[in-house]
Formats: sequence, C-alpha cells, structure tokens
Amino acid sequence: MIFKGIVRGMKETKSSLTKTEHLEMSRKAWDAYHPYYTSFKLKKRPDFHRFFAEGGVELNDVEVKLAGDVKGKKLLDICCAGDAAQAFSWENLGAKVVACDFSPVAIELAKRNAEKIGSRIEFKVADAQILAPIADNQFDIVYATYVCWLEDLVQAARAWHRILKPGGRLLLSLNHPVVESLKETDRGLTVTRDYFDNSPEYSSFTGTPIADEYGGWDGNLPIVEFFHSLADVINAIAGTGLCIKQMVETRAPEEQSPLLSRLPKYVAYVAGKEVS
Ligand SMILES: C[S@@+](CC[C@H](N)C(=O)[O-])C[C@H]1O[C@@H](n2cnc3c(N)ncnc32)[C@H](O)[C@@H]1O
Repeated sequence: MIFKGIVRGMKETKSSLTKTEHLEMSRKAWDAYHPYYTSFKLKKRPDFHRFFAEGGVELNDVEVKLAGDVKGKKLLDICCAGDAAQAFSWENLGAKVVACDFSPVAIELAKRNAEKIGSRIEFKVADAQILAPIADNQFDIVYATYVCWLEDLVQAARAWHRILKPGGRLLLSLNHPVVESLKETDRGLTVTRDYFDNSPEYSSFTGTPIADEYGGWDGNLPIVEFFHSLADVINAIAGTGLCIKQMVETRAPEEQSPLLSRLPKYVAYVAGKEVS
C-alpha cells in the first residue's frame, strides 16, 4: 500500500522555524523512528524478504499503470524509508532503481533489507528537495511520493527536473489535498483544516495507526509536515518546464467511510521533460 500519510498526533502551532531547522527536526524524528517503522512494516508482512526476493510488488495499481513499462528504465525513488518496499517493487517490475532518503538510519536499514532480498538497488542519503548526490539528466522516471514531508516543492520540482533525462517522466502522487481537509463524523463531513492555510503542521509519530497496530511507539520527538494544495503542486511542476501529461484522482482501495468513499483519496500526476 502506498500513499499512506502519517495520521497527525498532537497537532500544535509553533512560531515559524527556518527550512534548515525544519529539515533537522524531521530528520532527527525520522532517524529515531525508522528502526521501529521498519520493524512494523516487517511485522505487517512477515514474509517481507521472501516476498520481494520472489518478485513481489507492493504498489498502487494506478501508479503501476501510470508508470507504464519500466523494464530497463532508470528510476529514482525519492523517499524510500528503511523498508524500501516501493523501491523493491519497482526493481521487481524490471526498473534499475536508485533509492534515496534523507535519513542515514533509513538508508542503513534499507541496505540490510536489500542484502537479504538480493536486490541490486543503489541507496543514497539525500534530501529529496535537492538530490545533491545525483548528477543531471540521469533518470527515465522520478517516483515522488510523500511530498507532505517536503517544505519547498518548487525547489524539489527543480531538482527532479534536473536529474531527469530529456524525455524522462515525473510520477508524483499524494493524498488528495481537498479530501485531506475533510473528516467524516456522525454529523456528516466536517472541514478540519483551512485549505488555503499552508503553514507548517507540527506533530509527532505518537499514536500513528501502524505503530499502534504493530508494537507501539512512545517517542515524542516533534516532526513537521507541509500541506500542498492542488495549485501548489501543479505550479511547482509546471514552473520547472515539465509538461503535465496526465492527472488522475482515485478512490481509496481500502474501506472508507460512506461519504468519503464518494470522493477521491489520492491524486497522481505524470509530467514529462521535453526533448530539446
Ligand atoms: C512514509 S515514509 C516512505 C515509505 C516508503 N517509501 C515505503 O515504501 O513504504 C516517508 C519517508 O520520507 C523520508 N523523508 C522525509 N523528508 C525527506 C526529505 N526531505 N528528503 C528525503 N526523504 C525524506 C523519511 O525519512 C521517510 O523514510
């Protein structure tokens, strides 16, 4: 399953920190959380290593369809985490995968998983908004999810454009920002956030569903997420010169509350880098 966002815990508003301070806050929290997050993912799929060693794929069908035939294509996963389930899946579909994460702990865990699976993925520590270790014009596909962790989408989109080969494509998916702003209650749908308010949202991993289900996590380091509207995303992509070829809105594959199931849960974009 992809697209899963962290359900927010203790939401609170703090004074504005700099981008660097936000990045360090998030990295510290993810570094501490990754050993748990990876162990939860392994508990969720007890045959994790065998599953991927035998060619398993754990991706959303819509994304697989949007990516098209990835055999032999060079694909970058920008936020792979320690389980790197999506990266292993793209590799099993035939892509030559490079997977990044800004957390050195995640990359160490991912490498250990790769060894057990027999994967040839190249893992790199990198901020997805800059991708400093990645040279220009390298990739056929940039696979970008979890943009809720990225503060500067404009900078990030420039980095994705930079590393794509001419003719390469960006596949970007996220929870649908309109529906992210709604919650179903006994009284129907309630608007839970101001769609036009994109100030940083501070919380912690405490009480996330995966932690509650697979072992508990009581670390309370602060993390910060960023809300990106549909216009923010489209403008960030289009501003780089990438050409948006397709936008798809989809329902949640899992059971949802009756009203929400009539609305899109996810949105995905495919954008191409022009051949000059
Ligand atoms: C929900 S996890 C990704 C899960 C994973 N892709 C999978 O296959 O299930 C989000 C990841 O984003 C990473 N992350 C957060 N901010 C980042 C940034 N600025 N650059 C790169 N990775 C980042 C976190 O360390 C975390 O591993």
